[in-house]
Amino acid sequence: MTGQLAGRTIFITGSGGVLGSTYVRRMLDQGARVVATDLPGHRAEALQAAHAGNAAFRFYDLDVGDEAQVTEIFKRVLADGWEPNVVLNNAAITGEMLMGAGKPFPDFADTSVADFERTLRTNLTGAFMVARQMDRDIVGRWPATLINVASMYALNGAHHPIYDGMPFKNFSAYGVTKAGIHGLTVWLAGYWAPRGATVNTIAPGAVFNNHSEEFQRRVGELIMMGRMAKPDEIADAMLFLCSAGAGYMTGQLVNVDGGFSAW
Ligand SMILES: NC(=O)c1ccc[n+]([C@@H]2O[C@H](COP(=O)([O-])OP(=O)(O)OC[C@H]3O[C@@H](n4cnc5c(N)ncnc54)[C@H](O)[C@@H]3O)[C@@H](O)[C@H]2O)c1
Repeated sequence: MTGQLAGRTIFITGSGGVLGSTYVRRMLDQGARVVATDLPGHRAEALQAAHAGNAAFRFYDLDVGDEAQVTEIFKRVLADGWEPNVVLNNAAITGEMLMGAGKPFPDFADTSVADFERTLRTNLTGAFMVARQMDRDIVGRWPATLINVASMYALNGAHHPIYDGMPFKNFSAYGVTKAGIHGLTVWLAGYWAPRGATVNTIAPGAVFNNHSEEFQRRVGELIMMGRMAKPDEIADAMLFLCSAGAGYMTGQLVNVDGGFSAW
């Protein structure tokens, strides 16, 4: 197989979402073998249906917040003959997903510890557990790279007024976890370098997913390029980070946000 990702076997969490499913399609197009994982459900089913019969695609159920599942996952993947050399910590729970679509979104003063900690469990502890398992089962056996997914709301605060009257808001725990995941990146980058593994963070900007015209206008005013991203525009940068061409990059945070973070 030829392509930008020939020779790459890419393991990805939360792969049935808007961005994950785009990454999977583009990675397969570029010659990668893809080990996709997600929670069981409609997203996972749609992804499996889209790539059924593709010998370069394999799917496993995985809840990244479940320590027993994460501890077993690479052992199962390796036993099945797949040797990941790229791992993506892509799974995340958003505030909207946590509350359930249509349910009123709590103000900061009403945010429960349980909701805050559930977000931490998936977005941060889950990413740590996947990285720890990568350390145990992969790092040092062959050159490998980990890509942690942050957000434009990792090191920049959310612009709260743009959510006024919208059915969704930005949830405090989300930004906390997205800042924290870059801490994991820089900590691991130095720790793994002697064993031939690199770690970087990608921070996507606001990705269009059927948002209202009013929301697009409000968020667009905060972005130098004046508009939300297409999923494929985030995938372009993700594919580079997964490729051999990114071999001398480690410990970096790559913003793909149309200039949002530069203003
Ligand atoms: N879409 C955006 O605008 C945007 C912007 C910045 C960052 N991001 C980040 O990009 C990544 C992908 O986002 P997306 O837009 O595709 O979101 P999405 O909500 O469409 O997909 C997230 C996926 O994570 C999975 N997931 C949730 N909890 C899980 C768990 N416990 N175990 C395993 N999987 C779990 C979901 O099932 C889903 O498939 C996330 O880390 C997100 O925070 C997205």
